[in-house]
Amino acid sequence: MAASYPASSIRKMFNLALDFPDAVKLTVGEPDFNTPDHIKAAGIRAIENDNTRYVANAGIPELRQAIARKYSARWNRGITSENVMVSFGAMEALTFALDVTVSPGDEVIIPDPSFPNYMGQVHRLGAVAVSVPVTEDNDFKLRAEDVRSAITDKTAAVIINSPSNPLGSVMDRADIEQIAALADEHGFTVISDEVYDEMVFDDAVFTSIAEVGAEFDRFLAIGSFSKTYAMTGWRCGFVIGAEDFIAPMALLQEGLTSSLPGFVQEAAVAAIEGPQTAVEEMGASYARRRELMVERINVIEGLSLLRPAATFYAWVNVSEWGLDSWELATQLLEKHNLATIPGSAFGPAGEGYLRLTFAVSDETINTACDRLEAFATAR
Ligand SMILES: Cc1ncc(COP(=O)(O)O)c(C=O)c1O
Repeated sequence: MAASYPASSIRKMFNLALDFPDAVKLTVGEPDFNTPDHIKAAGIRAIENDNTRYVANAGIPELRQAIARKYSARWNRGITSENVMVSFGAMEALTFALDVTVSPGDEVIIPDPSFPNYMGQVHRLGAVAVSVPVTEDNDFKLRAEDVRSAITDKTAAVIINSPSNPLGSVMDRADIEQIAALADEHGFTVISDEVYDEMVFDDAVFTSIAEVGAEFDRFLAIGSFSKTYAMTGWRCGFVIGAEDFIAPMALLQEGLTSSLPGFVQEAAVAAIEGPQTAVEEMGASYARRRELMVERINVIEGLSLLRPAATFYAWVNVSEWGLDSWELATQLLEKHNLATIPGSAFGPAGEGYLRLTFAVSDETINTACDRLEAFATAR
């Protein structure tokens, strides 16, 4: 399995860009803000108070409760700490979610383009990934109709990701409702990766799978502290679902890593229970930088960018330039010192696009767009 694990082209481009230390980088998928001070202080305090030993497999009770309280309120649904598993980032939450719902040979429906780790994790289980294209005609929103046509009697799970990396789109509530209904009808689980749930701009409305009346045994909702609270390196995520799904995850964790560090979890409690001003400020800043990106990209000859509704990713249509996206990203790096991610890194339907991160300074956005303009002129 390891020998055939699909290599990430994001990582490949990242490594290539290391040879260009002065390159302007729009590659990383993380906030450019530091973790807010009160969260860091809670982590430091926890270490000083010697919370440095093994803790419970499923997470410390305080964190599981804090997550349960937060999402009970957001979803208007009774969530208890027994419904919450704390994980090493959303990444491990995804591992758990697939482990408890999918067996070798099963099919897992994933959007194309999507976060490349979905493909990798499905492969790890010896399951089969079935891609459903998400297109610009549909404003880059996954449609329930398209999911429906990919369902077979081997479908064990459908992974959805709204708001989407790399597309920056937010799915329509009606599609989420219909996918929940399909899960009921066909008996599969919806694994809903919602790590960008709080990075949604004013004109868009995010709906969680947990809000549309999906039966508790038909979905797993994945969240993370990484993006919302600028905590990517703390590696703290979680998955919320029925107790029958969550309890075995704790057993799996015992054999994997035993538990997340207790001090990381105390910092996560502070993130949820402390002031949310930093989250709002970071969101406002992404929204503002989105406008700059949209304005600058859409006047460059041959490029077009649909205004992203969420996240900090611009999914730029480069098809008029007529170059394969990997080739284009390589040329931009080698000739213009600009690092981007080729759309094909996210699946075949990503061909013809580049992903640009706008979690960077205005100056970086402007310099990057100057370089894209220079490329357009030199063609
Ligand atoms: C869609 C999506 N899911 C999951 C993750 C992983 O997040 P975490 O840092 O919580 O593991 C990312 C990170 O880029 C992501 O974009």
